[in-house]
Amino acid sequence: MDELPDAADLRRMHPENLEQSRDKLACFLSGWLGGPKLFSEKYGSISIPSFHAQWPIDEARSAAWLSCMERAIALQPFSLEFAEYLLTQLRVPAHRVVQASRARHG
Ligand code: HEM
Repeated sequence: MDELPDAADLRRMHPENLEQSRDKLACFLSGWLGGPKLFSEKYGSISIPSFHAQWPIDEARSAAWLSCMERAIALQPFSLEFAEYLLTQLRVPAHRVVQASRARHG
């Protein structure tokens, strides 16, 4: 987020210190990917669309978030096939976030 110019607005939505945001996302993705359910163990239950509906998140913000995830995924030693699969799957909750936000903010 700090590196992509298109993600400056997304970065401003986050706290200055990203330590907890990073831990929360990593814990959530662990369970989301079928691994240990670290987020619910540590932070409790969450609905991704309703949680994010506190902000107006449009297609542009969703695209910025997905671009950051694409960059982060590219840094991992994943096969191209898995990297593409992961990004495709992440578009599903990202789209739900936009829908839930639109329902709340119009
Ligand atoms: C669609 C665009 C998205 C935007 C603009 C966005 C933005 C944000 C922001 C601003 C926060 C708060 C960070 C903080 O205060 O620490 C957050 C938290 C979080 N996001 Fe997203 N997000 C998006 C999509 C997603 C998706 C698709 C997922 C899951 C696959 C996700 C998972 C999380 C989690 C687990 C948290 C922490 C929740 C908590 O504090 O309890 N986000 N997001």
